[in-house]
Amino acid sequence: MSRSDLTEAAGRLSACRRIVVFTGAGVSAESGIPTFRGEGGIWEKYDPDVFGNIPGLGQVWLTQPQRLLDFITDALDTFLAAQPNAAHLVIGKAEAAGRIRAVVTQNVDDLHERGGTRTVFKLHGDLYTLRCLRCGRSGPLDRGRMERIRDQLDGMRSGRLAILKKLWEIMPRCGECEGLTRPDVVFFGESLPANVLRQAEEETRSCDAFLIVGTSGVVYPAALLPKLARSRGALVVEVNREASPYTEMSDFSFFGPAGSIVPELIPESPRPA
Ligand code: OAD
Repeated sequence: MSRSDLTEAAGRLSACRRIVVFTGAGVSAESGIPTFRGEGGIWEKYDPDVFGNIPGLGQVWLTQPQRLLDFITDALDTFLAAQPNAAHLVIGKAEAAGRIRAVVTQNVDDLHERGGTRTVFKLHGDLYTLRCLRCGRSGPLDRGRMERIRDQLDGMRSGRLAILKKLWEIMPRCGECEGLTRPDVVFFGESLPANVLRQAEEETRSCDAFLIVGTSGVVYPAALLPKLARSRGALVVEVNREASPYTEMSDFSFFGPAGSIVPELIPESPRPA
C-alpha cells in the first residue's frame, strides 16, 4: 500500500455519491470481536460443524452443556464489551453527509448502527433480535437483557445436569407465546433473509463505488456482491488484512487495519477529486 495509492483512491471515492460499503468480521476486529477465520478466529476455538448450526448446538447442549456455557459466555462477554471503532464511526459520518448510500454487512453485531449508520442491510441476521421457535414472532434482545443472562451464567459451573437445566431456564422466551427463542442470525445451511438480500443487491447494482472492508469473501451468496458491483462498472476498493478473492478484481486493495485505513479513504472533509 503506498501513500499515493491511498490518496488516489480517496480522491476517486470523494467524487462518488452512491457508495455501498460491504463489511465482514474484519471491520469489527479492532472493536474486540474476533474474526471467524485465521489465527485466533472463532472457528479455530469453536468447531463450525458443531457451533455453526442449530442441530449442532442442540447436540452440545445435551451432551456437553459446559462447552455450550463457555460458548455463550464468551459470545456475551465479547459483544457486550465491543464499541464502534474508527471505521464504523467514519462510515456513519459519511452516510450522514450523503456520500454513502448503505452498509451491507455480514456481521451480526450492532456496531454500524451504534457508529451512526442508519441504512444497514444485515445479510446474516442480527444478534440483538430473537425469533420464537414456536410462533415465529421476532422481538428485541436488548443489552440489559443480555447483561442479565450473562450474570445468570456466573456460578453455573458444575454438574452436567445442573448446567443443562439452568441453561433451559435462562433461555429467553417469546413475549407472546412463551415459546423458546433463538437468535435471529443465519446459521450454516440456512437461507439469508430474502428481502434483505434483494435490497442489498439493488443498492449494489446502482452504486458508483463499492468499498469492501474486512471480509474473506468465501461465504455465499454474500460473496457475490462485489462481483455484481464490478460487473455494473462501480469503482471497487478493498480493505483487508491480507489478499482475498477480491484483490484481483479491485481497482485498489489496501492491506492493514480498517480502523486506520477507512478514515483515510473516506475522510470527514474529502478533498475534491
Ligand atoms: P472472516 O473471518 O472469514 O474474514 C475476516 C476478514 O477480515 C479477512 O479477510 C481478514 O483479512 C480481514 N481482517 C481481519 N482483521 C482486520 C482488520 N483489523 N482490518 C481489516 N480487515 C481485517 O470473516 P467474514 O468474511 O466476515 O457467516 O466471514 C463471512 C461469514 O463467515 C460470516 O458472516 C459468518 C462466517 O461463517 C455466518 O455466520 C453465516
